[in-house]
Amino acid sequence: VQDGNGVKGLVDAGLSKVPHQYIQPPEERIEKQSASSTGLSPIDLSKLDGPDHDKVVEEIIGAAGNLGFFQVVNHGVPLELLESLKESAYSFFGQEPEKKAVYRKGSSPSQNVKYGTSFVPEKEKALEWKDYISMVYTNDDDALSYWPKECREVALEYLRTSLNMVKKILQVLIANLGVAEEDSNKTIDSLIGLKMVNMNYYPKCPNPELTVGVGRHSDLGSLTVLLQDGIGGLYVKLEEDKNGKNQGGWIEIPPINGALVINIGDTLQILSNGKYKSAEHRVRTTSTKSRVSIPIFTIPKPTEKIGPLPQVVERNGLARYREVVFEDYMKNFFGNAHDGKKSLNFA
Ligand code: SIN
Ligand code: FE2
Repeated sequence: VQDGNGVKGLVDAGLSKVPHQYIQPPEERIEKQSASSTGLSPIDLSKLDGPDHDKVVEEIIGAAGNLGFFQVVNHGVPLELLESLKESAYSFFGQEPEKKAVYRKGSSPSQNVKYGTSFVPEKEKALEWKDYISMVYTNDDDALSYWPKECREVALEYLRTSLNMVKKILQVLIANLGVAEEDSNKTIDSLIGLKMVNMNYYPKCPNPELTVGVGRHSDLGSLTVLLQDGIGGLYVKLEEDKNGKNQGGWIEIPPINGALVINIGDTLQILSNGKYKSAEHRVRTTSTKSRVSIPIFTIPKPTEKIGPLPQVVERNGLARYREVVFEDYMKNFFGNAHDGKKSLNFA
């Protein structure tokens, strides 16, 4: 299953039923009707610089503390660039298998670039219906030399323009936790110590009712930025509320042309002592069309210590997480692939 042309290769070969490795246990399968749409309107980030500043701040803080997912428009990432990114994902994944296989683990010309399939294949009970290319950013020269040429320029521009937005959003979130303005840049820099651009390709699947594009998980890092195309299928879990209402149902983050999806990762949940939510989410496959999504992950450096900010603990009295070295947190995270939010129990 691992060799050749990824999941795309299976589909191109014309299979009529998914191989058994991809069949999920019944409790992990995703019914199409299982989710309702959020119906939340996207947040207009350009208004942060105008008279509606306070209202937008409230929207961001509210979304981070409730669902942990929100969409943004007027985000400063050019709309033409979003279109080029989706096209470049198709150019990369549409290549001959040998051209992609170059980037497989063990043969990639750079340890920052990796082409693969599923998430952590050796740890997963069943494989995901997904191929991906992942590009870790160290510096522009490295990216322009080693990232695949089908997407290096657009991916780099996407990262550059998104980081401006990420910093603005983090500024809002951090200030609300009581971090003094003079300390906020330092906190933000540590939250975005490592950056990575991925391109996900979910081929159309003969059995969407048996498979997942991505199994349920929370994101590891600080903030994730996600560009999704018009297909849909990204589902987020509602947290059960204290009186047992909500029962933890799933809702869809609907595709909105020109918008970007932002979500909170485990690191921010820990830092905020649980005030901001790193939501469990997953992706459904479809039988009619392939889907692409292009996330940017911002995460701390492995050597960074993460724990609840003292300012927050002072306010609510009790630290809900212990301080951990981020590298240890990461190891635990990847060792427990797709067990929902269990990774947070480590901190
Ligand atoms: C993910 O959360 O891993 C992917 C999200 C998406 O493809 O929409
Ligand atoms: Fe995710």
